[in-house]
Amino acid sequence: MPLKVCWLYYDLLSPFYNFVTKTAISLMGAAEAEVRREYLCELEIAPGMHVLEVSVGTGSNICLLPRGAFYYGLDISRGQLRQCAKNLRRLQLSARLILGEAEHLPFRDNSFDVVFHMGGINFFSDPPQAVREMLRVAKPPPPWPCPALQKI
Ligand SMILES: C[S@@+](CC[C@H](N)C(=O)[O-])C[C@H]1O[C@@H](n2cnc3c(N)ncnc32)[C@H](O)[C@@H]1O
Repeated sequence: MPLKVCWLYYDLLSPFYNFVTKTAISLMGAAEAEVRREYLCELEIAPGMHVLEVSVGTGSNICLLPRGAFYYGLDISRGQLRQCAKNLRRLQLSARLILGEAEHLPFRDNSFDVVFHMGGINFFSDPPQAVREMLRVAKPPPPWPCPALQKI
């Protein structure tokens, strides 16, 4: 989707985004928090880590993540970021929110312990470029801990 159309769409939707998402997921017979947690627990976030969510939306994921890490949320929509700030404030959570494009992340290489994205990549104007950027700003994984397997 062209960038301008995308941010306009999400800016207009932002006051209703949480309600729409929750309703859509419950119509599929699931509970939103459960669906999100199933994915989020794979991230293995620990206190002190620097964690970036690309296209953070209204912050529904950050609200479910463990406290003690440093969270950053980037999104193309000012409206979504405004709702995100409100939601985080209500739960007394903090995150650095950045207006920007997934295709051009304004961070140095290897800046984050965890970089993740949930929902929306199909609407990006250039999904492969966004994935390249996410990989660029994420720290590389530590070497494989089993020397025998490293040789394979
Ligand atoms: C379906 S929402 C997902 C929001 C959130 N991650 C969640 O799980 O609820 C998609 C989000 O992607 C954002 N977005 C769309 N295109 C983007 C782009 N090129 N760069 C950054 N964010 C973008 C939209 O503004 C919107 O907030």
